[in-house]
Amino acid sequence: MSEEAINYPVPDAAMKGAHVSGMPAYLKLVAEADVDLGAYWARLAREFVSWKTPFTQSLDESGAPFFKWFEDGTLNASYNCLDRHVERGRGDKVAILFEADDGQVSRVTYSDLLARTCRLANALKARGVKKGDRVVIYMSMSVEGVVAMQACARIGATHSVVFGGFSAQSLRDRIAGAGAVMVITADEQLRGGKQLPLKAIVEEAMTLGGCESIKDVIVYRRTGGQIAWDASRDRWMHEETEKQGDTCEPEWVGAEHPLFLLYTSGSTGKPKGVQHSTGGYLVQAAVSTTWTFDLRDEDVFWCTADIGWVTGHTYITYGPLAIGATQVVFEGVPTYPDAGRFWKMIQDHKVSVFYTAPTAIRSLIKAAEASEAVHPRSYDLTSLRILGSVGEPINPAAWEWYHQHVGGGRCPIVDTFWQTETGGHMITPLPGATPLVPGSCTLPFPGIAAAVVDETGNDVPHGQGGLLVVKKPWPGMIRNIWGDPERFKVSYFPPELKGYYLAGDGSIRDAKTGYFTITGRIDDVLNVSGHRMGTMEIESALVSCTALVAEAAVVGRPDETTGETICAFIVLKGPRPTGDEARKIATELRNWVAKEIGPIAKPKDIRFGDNLPKTRSGKIMRRLLRSIAKDEAITQDTSTLENPAVLEQLMERN
Ligand code: WTA
Repeated sequence: MSEEAINYPVPDAAMKGAHVSGMPAYLKLVAEADVDLGAYWARLAREFVSWKTPFTQSLDESGAPFFKWFEDGTLNASYNCLDRHVERGRGDKVAILFEADDGQVSRVTYSDLLARTCRLANALKARGVKKGDRVVIYMSMSVEGVVAMQACARIGATHSVVFGGFSAQSLRDRIAGAGAVMVITADEQLRGGKQLPLKAIVEEAMTLGGCESIKDVIVYRRTGGQIAWDASRDRWMHEETEKQGDTCEPEWVGAEHPLFLLYTSGSTGKPKGVQHSTGGYLVQAAVSTTWTFDLRDEDVFWCTADIGWVTGHTYITYGPLAIGATQVVFEGVPTYPDAGRFWKMIQDHKVSVFYTAPTAIRSLIKAAEASEAVHPRSYDLTSLRILGSVGEPINPAAWEWYHQHVGGGRCPIVDTFWQTETGGHMITPLPGATPLVPGSCTLPFPGIAAAVVDETGNDVPHGQGGLLVVKKPWPGMIRNIWGDPERFKVSYFPPELKGYYLAGDGSIRDAKTGYFTITGRIDDVLNVSGHRMGTMEIESALVSCTALVAEAAVVGRPDETTGETICAFIVLKGPRPTGDEARKIATELRNWVAKEIGPIAKPKDIRFGDNLPKTRSGKIMRRLLRSIAKDEAITQDTSTLENPAVLEQLMERN
């Protein structure tokens, strides 16, 4: 951040009546948490969440880093998201404005959503699903997807949502990893006018082995497309729910009961099942939804994320519903039928708080610059009050465009930094309190002890980069890696960091303001269009193509639109291909990766060499590969390379 960085003061309109109004109000909350962290979160836990049995202790650090929050309290997440609003006479309020891919709109009130959730919950129970069982949800963006998550929560089953873009192989790994008893899916999904298979992929996953724990597959009929059917296992959702009543007593669970698992990529090994709690997670979701978006009763909130990612969990399924908000849920993609879709939907639904990813903004900027018809100024966006950004750093140019052209220069932008593991926002402006600097996620959420430290856990001075850590626990934090507590400890609480939570990102604080800027991952995790992927995962997928590949190394290359793209360097078992042959094999390998992981993991750039650049001790020189991927001049010392000629080969694009 430069000294000249444009500073956007909090507009009066944003400050007025805000949940956290003005910097002194923010600082007061920070001070309250500083004085007694447990008491601070306990106060919020009582204000924002309804407990069946009140908790008597807030934070329990005795098993650190396996922290517990509100442990002897009992609650139900679905009760908090649905019943309590209906009980307070708000059953007729619209919970979800669903817009389908083809533009059809349906409105689901809180009473409807409760009834639908209860019917499915009863159906799950009738199929033998019990408290503590794991249920995999492999669904498109739909009301039924949200209902499936809520129904699991209602009966105390732990859901594990798998993004609909993952392959059969990835789905199988996640089913097996969780030991799930059921899969909830749809026949097909509709995105951008195309019918894409879901059930067929479940079918394929089942044949791969490892899914023997699955007893039932519940299928939501979305398109009515042709699908294979196994009568011993497959059941239509509508047939199962028709038979059920629309009330279902919630299963009251302890606050630490696992609400969900969500698999995400790390720097080593297979994706890990991030385990979240019920009580602490819900507190974090409710408080952050309220404060970060300053949500009021009359707002129409729209988070464009997919329920397959954590953003869709916290800021679609749990946060907005926990606080009784009205939100838009969208089935489709931002570019169909044209790149004005988001703007048209904001106009049609009078969206007041809009939350999306920088990748989407950047691609829509390109489209708007090419065609006036899809420029935000061709739509009435005056309903907007607050804008949000999530998933990757937002570059100042995209920030400015978003602010000016989407927000009409009036709407604060909340650049929210957080992770699958953190459950909710960690560092973010609060729209009524925090002056903004484009490109900076500004200051920690009140109660989050974020800091920048060196490799030994000591604070670095502002203005100097370092590792982003969180020094104290928070209610929404990851509780464990499913089935792998050892990995949990070493990944997130390395001994040299004094017990701090290691985020895996680099950060720098502004010398004057103390504002945080995220400088990107410090490990081998890539962020492509806001999708998180491990280089190791992609490398393993490539080398599993044993017929062709001898060795593979994957690095990220900065990209203007998607943030990063995947660049793979390959040594084949046969001779190094060139020209058409190289392009043909590259296509084959891309398809292979799509099949192994999912289309989102396809390397954009594939290069072939007789070898990879290695040090004498045999380590792949990744820094060098990153330079090659960027087409940069090589400044590293390459004198130790066994075969410097491979560098020339790897510079050749296919
Ligand atoms: C990155 C998504 C900069 C970061 C919620 C983090 C961000 C990873 C931001 C987590 C932001 C997320 N500014 N970088 N506002 N938000 N990131 O688990 O590298 O899919 O570690 O959670 O995304 O990705 P995840």
